[in-house]
Amino acid sequence: AAPVRYESENAAISQGAVESNHAGFTGTGFVNYDNVATSSVEYTVNVPSAGQYSLALRYANGTTTSRPLDVAVNGSLVVNDLGFPGTGAWTSYQTVTTTATLAAGTNRIKTTAVVAAGGPNADSLTI
Ligand code: GCU
Ligand code: CA
Repeated sequence: AAPVRYESENAAISQGAVESNHAGFTGTGFVNYDNVATSSVEYTVNVPSAGQYSLALRYANGTTTSRPLDVAVNGSLVVNDLGFPGTGAWTSYQTVTTTATLAAGTNRIKTTAVVAAGGPNADSLTI
């Protein structure tokens, strides 16, 4: 099936804010995670059938230190400390891809910051 992009600004945000001050995002903005561990963005996604899917997270990290995220699917941790290295500038967006098993229909994909610096700026999730 054709990839579907889910914008972070439409996701459920805990300890973060939708912002648009760093150009290069898709949609209307990105999520600036609060700079604290446990800040999170949860995307509600839909797939036609159960199976393994590639999850492409587009982000920016204007620092030189990785901002790892835990990735949980429907409440279960599936990837621990997925790295989001520096992209050179807050206006430089890159993509980190991982894989996860999803159920047919609706799934909740939650990306949670694990370090005190919080997460990277999160633009979108494409499945
Ligand atoms: C800067 C930047 C934010 C970013 C923040 C951070 O304030 O403008 O977009 O989220 O740094 O370090 O997390
Ligand atoms: Ca931030």
